[in-house]
Amino acid sequence: MRIPLNRGLRTVPDSSTRGYLNACGTLSPVRIVSVIGARPNFVKMAPVIAELRRRDPEARHVLVHTGQHYDRLMSAVFIDELGMPEPDYLLGVGSGSHAVQTARVLERIEPVLQAEKPGLVIVPGDVNSTLAAALVAAKLEIPIAHVEAGLRSFDRSMPEEVNRVLVDELSEFLFIHSEEAADNLRREGVGGERVHFVGNTMIDTLVTLSPRFRSLCAAEQLGLVPGSYLLVTLHRPALVDGPALAEVMERLGEVAEQMPVLFPVHPRTMANLGELSLHPRIRLSEPVGYLEFLSLEADAAAVLTDSGGIQEETTYLGVPCFTLRDNTERPVTVRAGTNTLLGLAPQRIAGIPAALGEGRSAPVEPPRGWDGQAAERLVDVLVGAARPVVAG
Ligand code: UD1
Ligand code: UDP
Repeated sequence: MRIPLNRGLRTVPDSSTRGYLNACGTLSPVRIVSVIGARPNFVKMAPVIAELRRRDPEARHVLVHTGQHYDRLMSAVFIDELGMPEPDYLLGVGSGSHAVQTARVLERIEPVLQAEKPGLVIVPGDVNSTLAAALVAAKLEIPIAHVEAGLRSFDRSMPEEVNRVLVDELSEFLFIHSEEAADNLRREGVGGERVHFVGNTMIDTLVTLSPRFRSLCAAEQLGLVPGSYLLVTLHRPALVDGPALAEVMERLGEVAEQMPVLFPVHPRTMANLGELSLHPRIRLSEPVGYLEFLSLEADAAAVLTDSGGIQEETTYLGVPCFTLRDNTERPVTVRAGTNTLLGLAPQRIAGIPAALGEGRSAPVEPPRGWDGQAAERLVDVLVGAARPVVAG
């Protein structure tokens, strides 16, 4: 097991962390635990954590990092760039099979929740850490809030789909960012009163950091002309853990003959590139920090991806996105006109330069609630709840 960065954080609760002194000098119970673990979690939770602290500074806010992602470029760089508080607990679960990774989170987060006794546990997205934290909270009868609820690919071979369905079932507050999420939940019989359309907190982060990433000019720093290159990210097991990856790299080589191809590689994918012959003009790198990635994304001619979050960011940025998957849990991005589902069909990569034709598509209207204020609406819901968990 790899242990994540050591920032001198405590990993077990001590007696001084069991409560906070309120204005009357009385020891009040701990209130809110937020759980993060993998790269997209940081981006979705940063604005929620900041808004909770702004609105209810007296409450005790606890941040748990499971350590599902642990490399600096998959974890610490986000906490730094997003200005997130230092996690109170690092669980150090690291990598493993689904069962092992999930079980480690189950085991390690239970004593944290038992000690902290929160009134609410907030979990984002659909990764293994999300499911495990929600399961433990449910068994301890702690209310759960799910950020980015209701997304469905209708493909149970995706591990994330299993996580989404279960976490939604367990959650008391389901925070959604697209109309279809409400329909999906309704079809599964998940009560309307639990579902709240608040918008997209990932876009909050993008909006907040806009001035910083726009002034970065990351493409120019790499000697690339803005609007001229294809940015690539791929990490889904269905694509990168099997034979499809070889064909992807071959087709990307063909594209690289026509336009620059920049590919910051996820560690799962990197582990599988080893034996493949790669076209020398494909520019591979480690994953890049969030500010650099957004700068590259905003200035790309197009993005080729299987990422969920990147389908959303390209929609907001108005950048053409080609999604190398058979389905998407984010059809709103296809309707917006920026996202094209290529299918799990690497041969279609070669058609991207021609599809781009004259250049960038016209700016699109972002979907409703993708406006930089989703976290504020989310906290409004918690403040206004029948049993408020946030003082506001
Ligand atoms: C996980 C999520 C996926 C999400 C993705 C975001 C699950 C089931 N999957 O996939 O939904 O889209 O994160 O990036 O939760 N590794 C490192 N360093 C790290 C992290 C991972 O080297 O910091 C390598 C390890 O070899 C590991 C592999 O990447 O086995 C996969 O990591 P894991 O967290 O299991 O799944 P992801 O593919 O990252
Ligand atoms: N991202 C990043 N650097 C990279 C690749 C992605 O900062 O090299 C960011 C991207 O902007 C988005 C998030 O990581 O905010 C998406 O994470 P990922 O694709 O790993 O997960 P998914 O969204 O598919 O769950």
